[in-house]
Amino acid sequence: MRYVTGVDVGTSGTKTLLVNETGKVCGTGYATYPLHQEQPGWAEQNPADWWEATCTSIRQALQDAGVSPRAVQAVGVSGQMHGMVCLDKHHQVIRPAILWCDTRTTAACRWITEVVGEAELPAITGNVALEGFTAPKLVWLAKHEPAHLEKTATLLLPKDYINYKLTDQLATDRSDAAGSLLYNVIEKQWALDLVQRLQLPTQILPPVYPSWEAIGRLTEAAALATGLLPGTVVVAGGADNACGAVGAGVLHTGQALSSIGSSGVILTPIEQPPARIDGKLHLFNHAVDTWYFMGVMLAAGLSYRWARDELGVAGESYDELNTAAASVAPGAEGVVFLPYLNGERTPHADPHARGVFFGISAVHRRAHLIRAVMEGITYGLRDIIELMRAAGPTIQTLRAIGGGAKSALWLQMQADVLQATVEVPAVDEGPAYGAALLAGVGSGIFSSVFEAVHKTVRVKAEYVPNAAASAAYERSYAVYRRLYPALKETFRAAAT
Ligand code: XUL
Repeated sequence: MRYVTGVDVGTSGTKTLLVNETGKVCGTGYATYPLHQEQPGWAEQNPADWWEATCTSIRQALQDAGVSPRAVQAVGVSGQMHGMVCLDKHHQVIRPAILWCDTRTTAACRWITEVVGEAELPAITGNVALEGFTAPKLVWLAKHEPAHLEKTATLLLPKDYINYKLTDQLATDRSDAAGSLLYNVIEKQWALDLVQRLQLPTQILPPVYPSWEAIGRLTEAAALATGLLPGTVVVAGGADNACGAVGAGVLHTGQALSSIGSSGVILTPIEQPPARIDGKLHLFNHAVDTWYFMGVMLAAGLSYRWARDELGVAGESYDELNTAAASVAPGAEGVVFLPYLNGERTPHADPHARGVFFGISAVHRRAHLIRAVMEGITYGLRDIIELMRAAGPTIQTLRAIGGGAKSALWLQMQADVLQATVEVPAVDEGPAYGAALLAGVGSGIFSSVFEAVHKTVRVKAEYVPNAAASAAYERSYAVYRRLYPALKETFRAAAT
């Protein structure tokens, strides 16, 4: 039996899956690392922590599966998008990576929009300038840490750093290049003219590969560190959301993915470039040869983790939290939560937005607050779907992955709030599974990503909307919709 390894470098930790050629997950590994938030709105991690967690989780997965490393044909890595990893000419990391959920770059976004032009920027990159993307981080570096930009010989995205540690090769893939705001998503090449207009060095941009193509082989040092064999093929891999979509079998127009990880994501593939790009949704390259529209919440799972840590009883598990939430009816008896703990991206691109509990009275208990957090996160996803539905695609079915796919309560809530059938893939690990399938293509086990998905991805459960619950959520969602506009100016005033 042949095996592949899929690794996902997430925000809370790195997950590894060992998958056999029939698509069965035979072993898993997971290791965490800290997120450094030195100031409100800042979010950084050390690439060395990602590497250590990658090595630990690959070793765990191999041991868990009891599989000889000789049977492992290839490795695919997926990762959190947009993070800026700067390497010097000796390939050493210059400073901690600035992450996707870091919102320090508002001024840089404004400057980029001015320099490139409000209409021209999305026409070239498919996107407007948003704080989380990589280009604003480089512009921030140029202004605040010019010596660091000067020293930068190569720019990598998070999963590319792991690929570098595995192979010694400096490379990226289309789906991650797309999230940099330095890439022409339609022409599938770096937007070199735009990079120059932003006074950024073009020579720091690595070569871009299709996600399923091999970029190199495991070095002796990486083999020693991971327990895999030297010479094992490593594919380019992809952005976590693109890989999550591959792992859930979401490749075609009309399909959609709902992912509640640290971020909250609704993604829908498009097989032709859109006629009009307005930047309300992100437009990125998929890990197949097409594109997708996506909206992103900055604190979905992050809000739920905050609720567990700050509202939970010490040591309370997510299951126990879900049980508490399930004791309250849909609509949380009027309590509404805005999940903007890190500011927000879609649909309200606003670094000043903050979390809010609304409508609390003396009858409410802790369980109401917990349920309101789950509901507020789901309303954020509904906001994104509304944008997509307004833009054209009719979304009637979604595939759910991540934390939101691990709880029956949350899956039913998604069906009721999003007013769509929610399907749960048999493997709901998402990005790591998609990365493993890409490795399967790169090593010749599958002839294409489409074949890989066709042969491996299955749906294990389906949740359909319940009319009574949907109606209750509609009333509470209507209140949710009014809160951000009512508070927008107050968020701004409170931030300055
Ligand atoms: C996507 C985004 C997040 C990260 C999280 O634009 O910023 O979903 O990829 O890992």
